[in-house]
Amino acid sequence: MCGIVAYIGHRDACPILIKGLQRLEYRGYDSAGISLIDENSSTINTYKIAGKVADLSEYIQNKNINGHVGMGHTRWATHGAPNNTNAHPHNSDDNMLSVIHNGIIENHDVLKKELIKRGYKFVSDTDTEVLVHLIQDIQKNQNVLLEEAVRIALHEVVGAYAIVILSRNEPDVLIAARKGSPLVIGVGENEYFFASDATPIVEYTRNVIYLQDNEVASVRGGNIVIKTIENEIQNPYISQLEINLEALEKGGFEHFMLKEIFSQPESLMDCMRGRIRVVDNQVQLGGFTKFENSLDKINRIIIVACGTSWHAGLVGEYLIEELARIPVEVEYASEFRYRNPIILAGDFVIAISQSGETADTLAALELAKGQGATIFGICNVVGASIPRMTDGGVYTHAGPEIGVASTKAFTAQVTVLTMVALKMAQKRGKITKARMAEILKGMVEIPEKVKEVLKKDDQIKYIADIYKDAPNCLYLGRGIQFPVALEGALKLKEISYIHAEGYPAAEMKHGPIALIDESMPIVVIATNKQNYEKVVSNIQEVKARKGKIIAIVTEGDTAIAELADHLIEIPETDEMLSPLLSVVPLQLLAYHIAVMRGCNVDQPRNLAKSVTVE
Ligand code: G6P
Repeated sequence: MCGIVAYIGHRDACPILIKGLQRLEYRGYDSAGISLIDENSSTINTYKIAGKVADLSEYIQNKNINGHVGMGHTRWATHGAPNNTNAHPHNSDDNMLSVIHNGIIENHDVLKKELIKRGYKFVSDTDTEVLVHLIQDIQKNQNVLLEEAVRIALHEVVGAYAIVILSRNEPDVLIAARKGSPLVIGVGENEYFFASDATPIVEYTRNVIYLQDNEVASVRGGNIVIKTIENEIQNPYISQLEINLEALEKGGFEHFMLKEIFSQPESLMDCMRGRIRVVDNQVQLGGFTKFENSLDKINRIIIVACGTSWHAGLVGEYLIEELARIPVEVEYASEFRYRNPIILAGDFVIAISQSGETADTLAALELAKGQGATIFGICNVVGASIPRMTDGGVYTHAGPEIGVASTKAFTAQVTVLTMVALKMAQKRGKITKARMAEILKGMVEIPEKVKEVLKKDDQIKYIADIYKDAPNCLYLGRGIQFPVALEGALKLKEISYIHAEGYPAAEMKHGPIALIDESMPIVVIATNKQNYEKVVSNIQEVKARKGKIIAIVTEGDTAIAELADHLIEIPETDEMLSPLLSVVPLQLLAYHIAVMRGCNVDQPRNLAKSVTVE
């Protein structure tokens, strides 16, 4: 992981790099740095510092930041502590060559030993530093231009990378390459922008090229050439960006996470737009059409995902099994890829990923594809690696999600899964017209109902204030609300650093009940119609041990009102759709607790938005 950005053209590079790094900071924020080529300096000017992009911005005040060619990096440490030395860019000892890198060089140890033997001195603990010495060594011994030296070097490298390289000896040249880590190239008029995603590029140009694995892009004298690392010239496809700039700003909210929580009525509408037709009881999913007539051949669905997307997958399991009656298995992508899974003919593998770049999810998909499964993607970022490798897919259209803790992406993923489940159910004849109509009507009403839930913000803030110092918190749910309990616990732990666990409510008595005392807050999602009585008795079990109950209930609830310490009411909806409402108070609760504890909610410690390394 890490964010990279680079520029070559007629503008001053530095402001573009700093702004770009701020947009990419969600990918990592341990340290940041830039390298610039200034015609009046005899070497590359590199500035780097442990900390955030704001610290770098401060640090470069009064430094020479001239130059129309430059690159920047924001780091999420994998090899080596997050300090000034390990920050990127990494330079040759004469500061004539500079490299930034996102990914992991797996054989860095072997390469490093060899380069040390040849007299190169390593100053950092990073895997990346081998690249700069390797390229320098190749140029020195083989007397080749930068582009060729990079291609030769990459033949020796095992691992994943997106890299950009500058050389003071070739000041009008910028080289970039990718394998396994994303790299987008913005094509302007006599200028080029390179970045880990399109967000640093969108305000300058909408024309982009998504660099493919094993490709090397070289800009020289204002022209770009893309070749494979085998030196074959490629004919790149220029696509048009669709994201808008406003969606990348905070829009008056204190944090991106809060903005994203509050934007869910709109993001859910965007997700459903043109896809739900109540008039004739239809779901229209362009990316699913080609599978519709072969649904009978699907014996099993395997969902692979990580983090919040995995929780959405668990909700999907309930939806698809209940509505379409197809068996579903939900797998952590990181486990699936390494446990020699049995993939059978007739397996339909769904990958869920906000970013579309998560390394484990990509690898799980590659494995499934290699074994003949049909692979389908549910992603948010248009044009990312997962949508480009799948046989088909549906975008969630939630808009850019910047806050590291995923919120609107989750509700959009669940919405897409609901639509996929309905489509499967209808095509397989497993749902009546009346039931289909009921759920579709319920879906259309969801955005308004989310608005109602958001009105509880002050009440949730009040509850947050009471429990903000709790060391532990338990989240309980049953049935389709169990994954919501997991998601609520994940939100709290990732941004407030309070230890939190999600549990199936009935399973509590097999362990977590031992933790309950009068200081323990327990969030219970008690909206289920089917299991309502059972959840009530789970709440009684907690109360008997003096635990504090924060209950998410359906408006008008009376039984739980008598038992709970705090009641957050959400509007009535179909049980299949209830996660779309019940998760919202949990997002807000985690948000307010984290803010009250003084945590950086948009950039929680040690986390990153997009995990492009294993
Ligand atoms: C990281 C993020 C999570 C996200 C997970 C999966 O851990 O911090 O918010 O759920 O990756 O990411 P994906 O982009 O594949 O949904």
